[in-house]
Amino acid sequence: MSSDIPAYAPSEEHELLRQTVRELAEAKIAPKAAEVDETGEFPQDALDALVQNELHAVHIPESYGGAGADALATVIVIEEVARVCASSSLIPAVNKLGTVPVLLSGSEELKKKYLTPVARGEAMFSYALSEPEAGSDAASMKTRAVRDGDHWVLNGVKMWITNAGVSEYYTVMAVTDPDKGARGISAFVVEKSDEGVSFGPKERKLGIKGSPTRQVILENVRIPADRIIGEEGTGFKTALATLDHTRITIAAQALGIAQGALDYAIGYVKERRQFGKPIADFQGVQFMISDMAMKIEAARQLTYHAAIKSERAFHGAKVPDLTFVSSACKCLASDVAMEVTTDAVQLLGGYGYTRDFPVERMMRDAKITQIYEGTNQIQRMVMARQLLK
Ligand code: CAA
Ligand code: FAD
Repeated sequence: MSSDIPAYAPSEEHELLRQTVRELAEAKIAPKAAEVDETGEFPQDALDALVQNELHAVHIPESYGGAGADALATVIVIEEVARVCASSSLIPAVNKLGTVPVLLSGSEELKKKYLTPVARGEAMFSYALSEPEAGSDAASMKTRAVRDGDHWVLNGVKMWITNAGVSEYYTVMAVTDPDKGARGISAFVVEKSDEGVSFGPKERKLGIKGSPTRQVILENVRIPADRIIGEEGTGFKTALATLDHTRITIAAQALGIAQGALDYAIGYVKERRQFGKPIADFQGVQFMISDMAMKIEAARQLTYHAAIKSERAFHGAKVPDLTFVSSACKCLASDVAMEVTTDAVQLLGGYGYTRDFPVERMMRDAKITQIYEGTNQIQRMVMARQLLK
């Protein structure tokens, strides 16, 4: 058999990037992770460190001043940041989520105007699809955009918006024709400074406490007509096409959290002694460690595979199973993250249950990956639709 079978394994460059991000994350982000969780403050130091090293939005193409990193490189950045601090990993992840609608469907003018400041680290970009009464059933949204001459006027409430208040820019999905269902939804760029934009209080959450989650409230927000992303009525498709690319970044976040918990648990079981020997000597502990690593590696391979497909699709290749693999990797990696972090707490015994050790934080952080960018029931529904259509 030939030794040069085309593989989706990371290249040497990808591994070098991993090393760079790991060192930065260990030195600059990990030391503050527990404090960020305790205080719920936005991890500004992490943002600064990521911006200084041009890792805050690596996916932005070079033509808009970005690093032009591929989808696998973006996954590796998010994975390595999440390994030490899940809240901070939402900086590169949500910058990608907010900007992909513009990259996929926006005009050249919108791309130039809004992607360049993000690439420079001067602005962040959020994504506003969900509403109080429209979560899984996103197409049932109520936020309205009404055309008025050369402007659109937006009214409504977007719920659960990650990095709301911190981000300068928002991709907002709104109904432009209530008679057309999903085909009557359009996407817009809204700026934080637009008159009529305000934010709800920070949600009090189980985990990812350093990542602000707030409502975005739109009251008679009047924006120029050219802030529409793509054609009128294509906003829901753009929103879902975006998720095909970005559910992979949530898989990356889940992988990172799981790897962080496994690495900590391995160090601990080699040190902790009971019955006169390290607990790592007990087969019951060894089998748990093996299962944890095995599940992470399986989820990682599927995630990297999906990232390669995302990259190909982004450059125009036909990738009919992108929707399936994107949902599959998000679903698998997040379920694995929940199992692995729960097992890590178990391996640390009573100590694992306290805030003196990081694994309980990782377990709380892991839970969100089964919920956002579509709950895992919705991922299973999306996969089933692909399989049965
Ligand atoms: N790409 C492009 N278009 C797509 C698509 C895709 N992957 N999937 C469906 N569409 C199109 C369909 O073709 C259809 O268009 P036509 O009528 O023109 O054919 C239109 O979109 C509507 O599709 P459906 O009829 O399948 O829509 P639905 O309402 O039955 O179901 C859903 C859609 C899959 C359930 C969707 O609402 C969904 O994914 N819900 C989960 C919500 C979600 O993921 N929210 C994420 C919020 S972001 C977040 O959470 C941020 C964070 O993590 C930090
Ligand atoms: P619901 O849709 O009410 O679901 C409740 C339960 O019912 C879930 O278990 C769900 O799986 C189940 N369910 C619903 N429908 C079905 C079905 N058809 N079959 C089987 N089970 C079903 N949204 C954004 O737009 N932008 C963001 O930046 C963002 N960030 C978020 C950050 C956080 C911390 C959180 C908590 C949420 C965020 N979200 C964001 C919203 C997130 O995507 C939604 O919470 C998620 O899609 C679920 O919607 P819901 O909370 O309304 O739950």
